[in-house]
Amino acid sequence: MTYRPLASELETERLSLRPLVPADAAEWHLELLGEREDGTTRTLDEDRRLLADLLASEAANGIGFRTIRRRSDGEPLGYTGLLIGRASLDEPELAYELLRRHHGQGYATEAARAVVDAAAATGRTRLWSTVGPWNTPSFRVLEKLGFRRDRVGADERSEFVYLVRDLP
Ligand SMILES: CC(C)(COP(=O)(O)OP(=O)(O)OC[C@H]1O[C@@H](n2cnc3c(N)ncnc32)[C@H](O)[C@@H]1OP(=O)(O)O)[C@@H](O)C(=O)NCCC(=O)NCCS
Repeated sequence: MTYRPLASELETERLSLRPLVPADAAEWHLELLGEREDGTTRTLDEDRRLLADLLASEAANGIGFRTIRRRSDGEPLGYTGLLIGRASLDEPELAYELLRRHHGQGYATEAARAVVDAAAATGRTRLWSTVGPWNTPSFRVLEKLGFRRDRVGADERSEFVYLVRDLP
Protein backbone atom coordinates (compact mmCIF):
# COMPACT_ATOMS: atom_id res chain seq x y z
CA MET A 1 0.00 0.00 0.00
CA THR A 2 1.32 3.48 -0.84
CA TYR A 3 0.22 6.60 0.97
CA ARG A 4 0.36 10.28 0.23
CA PRO A 5 2.97 12.15 2.33
CA LEU A 6 1.73 13.76 5.55
CA ALA A 7 0.94 17.43 4.82
CA SER A 8 4.02 19.39 5.81
CA GLU A 9 2.12 22.55 6.83
CA LEU A 10 -1.12 22.59 8.82
CA GLU A 11 -3.13 25.43 10.33
CA THR A 12 -5.75 25.44 13.08
CA GLU A 13 -7.65 28.29 14.68
CA ARG A 14 -4.79 29.18 17.08
CA LEU A 15 -1.83 27.14 15.82
CA SER A 16 0.48 26.56 12.90
CA LEU A 17 2.31 23.28 12.36
CA ARG A 18 5.52 23.12 10.35
CA PRO A 19 8.23 20.44 10.00
CA LEU A 20 10.47 20.02 13.06
CA VAL A 21 13.93 21.10 11.87
CA PRO A 22 17.47 21.07 13.39
CA ALA A 23 17.22 24.79 14.29
CA ASP A 24 14.39 23.88 16.69
CA ALA A 25 16.96 22.19 18.95
CA ALA A 26 18.39 25.48 20.20
CA GLU A 27 15.13 27.42 20.10
CA TRP A 28 12.99 25.08 22.23
CA HIS A 29 13.42 21.31 21.66
CA LEU A 30 16.41 20.83 23.96
CA GLU A 31 14.55 22.70 26.70
CA LEU A 32 11.59 20.36 26.27
CA LEU A 33 13.87 17.31 26.60
CA GLY A 34 15.23 18.82 29.81
CA GLU A 35 11.72 18.94 31.25
CA ARG A 36 11.23 15.18 30.82
CA GLU A 37 11.34 13.09 33.96
CA ASP A 38 12.92 10.09 32.23
CA GLY A 39 16.48 11.39 32.60
CA THR A 40 16.89 12.15 28.87
CA THR A 41 20.14 14.06 28.36
CA ARG A 42 21.43 15.22 25.01
CA THR A 43 23.86 17.93 23.88
CA LEU A 44 22.78 20.62 21.44
CA ASP A 45 24.75 18.97 18.64
CA GLU A 46 23.26 15.56 19.42
CA ASP A 47 19.78 17.05 19.38
CA ARG A 48 20.39 18.83 16.07
CA ARG A 49 21.61 15.55 14.56
CA LEU A 50 18.58 13.68 15.88
CA LEU A 51 16.23 16.24 14.34
CA ALA A 52 18.14 16.03 11.04
CA ASP A 53 17.78 12.23 11.15
CA LEU A 54 14.03 12.60 11.74
CA LEU A 55 13.74 14.84 8.67
CA ALA A 56 15.68 12.32 6.59
CA SER A 57 13.43 9.55 7.83
CA GLU A 58 10.37 11.58 6.82
CA ALA A 59 11.83 12.07 3.34
CA ALA A 60 12.04 8.29 3.10
CA ASN A 61 8.74 7.22 4.64
CA GLY A 62 6.38 10.23 4.36
CA ILE A 63 5.53 10.65 8.06
CA GLY A 64 7.17 12.81 10.72
CA PHE A 65 6.91 15.55 13.33
CA ARG A 66 5.62 19.11 13.23
CA THR A 67 6.61 22.04 15.44
CA ILE A 68 3.53 23.61 17.00
CA ARG A 69 3.60 27.43 17.09
CA ARG A 70 1.00 29.87 18.34
CA ARG A 71 -0.15 31.86 15.35
CA SER A 72 -0.65 35.10 17.28
CA ASP A 73 3.03 35.50 18.24
CA GLY A 74 5.00 32.61 16.67
CA GLU A 75 5.80 31.17 20.12
CA PRO A 76 6.96 27.52 19.90
CA LEU A 77 4.80 25.28 22.10
CA GLY A 78 6.06 21.76 21.36
CA TYR A 79 5.56 19.13 18.68
CA THR A 80 3.11 16.60 17.34
CA GLY A 81 3.20 14.15 14.48
CA LEU A 82 3.29 10.55 13.36
CA LEU A 83 5.94 7.91 13.93
CA ILE A 84 6.24 4.16 13.44
CA GLY A 85 7.13 3.74 17.13
CA ARG A 86 5.50 0.61 18.56
CA ALA A 87 3.10 0.41 15.59
CA SER A 88 3.76 0.38 11.82
CA LEU A 89 4.08 2.59 8.75
CA ASP A 90 0.59 1.49 7.65
CA GLU A 91 -0.92 2.20 11.08
CA PRO A 92 1.48 4.66 12.76
CA GLU A 93 1.48 6.19 16.22
CA LEU A 94 0.28 9.70 17.02
CA ALA A 95 2.65 11.62 19.32
CA TYR A 96 2.63 15.04 21.03
CA GLU A 97 4.63 16.79 23.70
CA LEU A 98 4.44 20.40 24.88
CA LEU A 99 6.63 22.65 27.00
CA ARG A 100 5.19 22.68 30.52
CA ARG A 101 4.34 26.37 30.53
CA HIS A 102 1.92 25.74 27.66
CA HIS A 103 0.01 22.82 29.18
CA GLY A 104 -3.66 23.07 30.05
CA GLN A 105 -4.83 25.36 27.25
CA GLY A 106 -6.14 22.78 24.82
CA TYR A 107 -3.14 23.17 22.52
CA ALA A 108 -2.19 19.48 22.33
CA THR A 109 -5.72 18.43 21.41
CA GLU A 110 -6.05 21.19 18.81
CA ALA A 111 -2.70 20.38 17.18
CA ALA A 112 -3.09 16.60 17.30
CA ARG A 113 -6.58 16.82 15.83
CA ALA A 114 -5.07 18.46 12.74
CA VAL A 115 -2.56 15.59 12.50
CA VAL A 116 -5.34 12.99 12.80
CA ASP A 117 -7.16 14.66 9.90
CA ALA A 118 -3.93 14.88 7.91
CA ALA A 119 -3.24 11.18 8.59
CA ALA A 120 -6.64 10.33 7.12
CA ALA A 121 -5.73 12.44 4.08
CA THR A 122 -2.64 10.26 3.47
CA GLY A 123 -5.02 7.34 2.83
CA ARG A 124 -4.43 5.56 6.15
CA THR A 125 -7.34 3.92 7.94
CA ARG A 126 -6.06 3.53 11.50
CA LEU A 127 -3.83 5.28 14.05
CA TRP A 128 -2.38 4.10 17.35
CA SER A 129 -1.00 5.78 20.41
CA THR A 130 0.84 4.29 23.39
CA VAL A 131 0.56 5.97 26.78
CA GLY A 132 1.99 5.31 30.23
CA PRO A 133 -0.80 4.20 32.62
CA TRP A 134 -0.07 7.23 34.85
CA ASN A 135 -0.50 9.81 32.07
CA THR A 136 -4.02 11.12 32.72
CA PRO A 137 -3.66 14.28 30.56
CA SER A 138 -2.58 12.21 27.56
CA PHE A 139 -5.47 9.76 27.97
CA ARG A 140 -7.81 12.74 28.06
CA VAL A 141 -6.31 14.21 24.88
CA LEU A 142 -6.79 10.88 23.09
CA GLU A 143 -10.31 10.49 24.42
CA LYS A 144 -11.19 13.93 23.03
CA LEU A 145 -9.74 12.84 19.68
CA GLY A 146 -11.89 9.70 19.53
CA PHE A 147 -9.29 7.06 20.47
CA ARG A 148 -10.34 3.96 22.48
CA ARG A 149 -8.28 1.70 24.73
CA ASP A 150 -7.22 -1.52 23.03
CA ARG A 151 -4.75 -3.44 25.23
CA VAL A 152 -1.85 -3.17 27.65
CA GLY A 153 1.72 -3.76 26.47
CA ALA A 154 5.18 -3.60 28.02
CA ASP A 155 8.83 -3.39 27.07
CA GLU A 156 11.96 -3.81 29.22
CA ARG A 157 11.48 -0.29 30.65
CA SER A 158 7.77 0.16 31.31
CA GLU A 159 4.14 -0.74 30.85
CA PHE A 160 1.94 1.23 28.42
CA VAL A 161 -1.60 1.22 27.09
CA TYR A 162 -2.31 0.91 23.34
CA LEU A 163 -5.13 3.15 22.12
CA VAL A 164 -6.54 3.03 18.62
CA ARG A 165 -8.62 5.22 16.33
CA ASP A 166 -10.16 4.25 13.02
CA LEU A 167 -9.95 6.97 10.37
CA PRO A 168 -12.83 7.79 8.04
C1 LIG B 1 -0.08 15.27 27.32
C2 LIG B 1 0.11 16.74 26.97
C3 LIG B 1 0.66 16.89 25.57
C4 LIG B 1 -1.25 17.45 27.07
O1 LIG B 1 -1.10 18.79 26.58
P1 LIG B 1 -2.22 19.90 26.84
O2 LIG B 1 -2.07 20.96 25.80
O3 LIG B 1 -2.18 20.31 28.27
O4 LIG B 1 -3.55 19.05 26.56
P2 LIG B 1 -5.03 19.65 26.38
O5 LIG B 1 -5.13 20.94 27.14
O6 LIG B 1 -5.35 19.65 24.94
O7 LIG B 1 -5.90 18.52 27.09
C5 LIG B 1 -5.53 18.01 28.37
C6 LIG B 1 -6.74 17.44 29.05
O8 LIG B 1 -6.33 16.68 30.19
C7 LIG B 1 -6.98 17.17 31.34
N1 LIG B 1 -6.09 16.97 32.47
C8 LIG B 1 -4.87 17.50 32.66
N2 LIG B 1 -4.34 17.06 33.83
C9 LIG B 1 -5.28 16.24 34.37
C10 LIG B 1 -5.30 15.48 35.57
N3 LIG B 1 -4.28 15.46 36.43
N4 LIG B 1 -6.42 14.73 35.80
C11 LIG B 1 -7.45 14.72 34.95
N5 LIG B 1 -7.46 15.43 33.78
C12 LIG B 1 -6.37 16.18 33.50
C13 LIG B 1 -7.25 18.62 31.04
O9 LIG B 1 -8.25 19.15 31.89
C14 LIG B 1 -7.69 18.50 29.57
O10 LIG B 1 -8.99 17.96 29.46
P3 LIG B 1 -10.31 18.89 29.26
O11 LIG B 1 -10.14 19.60 27.95
O12 LIG B 1 -11.43 17.92 29.26
O13 LIG B 1 -10.33 19.85 30.41
C15 LIG B 1 1.08 17.45 27.97
O14 LIG B 1 0.65 17.17 29.26
C16 LIG B 1 2.52 16.98 27.79
O15 LIG B 1 3.25 17.49 26.96
N6 LIG B 1 2.94 16.01 28.62
C17 LIG B 1 4.29 15.48 28.55
C18 LIG B 1 4.51 14.66 27.30
C19 LIG B 1 3.52 13.54 27.14
O16 LIG B 1 3.12 12.92 28.12
N7 LIG B 1 3.16 13.28 25.89
C20 LIG B 1 2.24 12.21 25.56
C21 LIG B 1 2.96 10.89 25.54
S1 LIG B 1 1.81 9.57 25.21
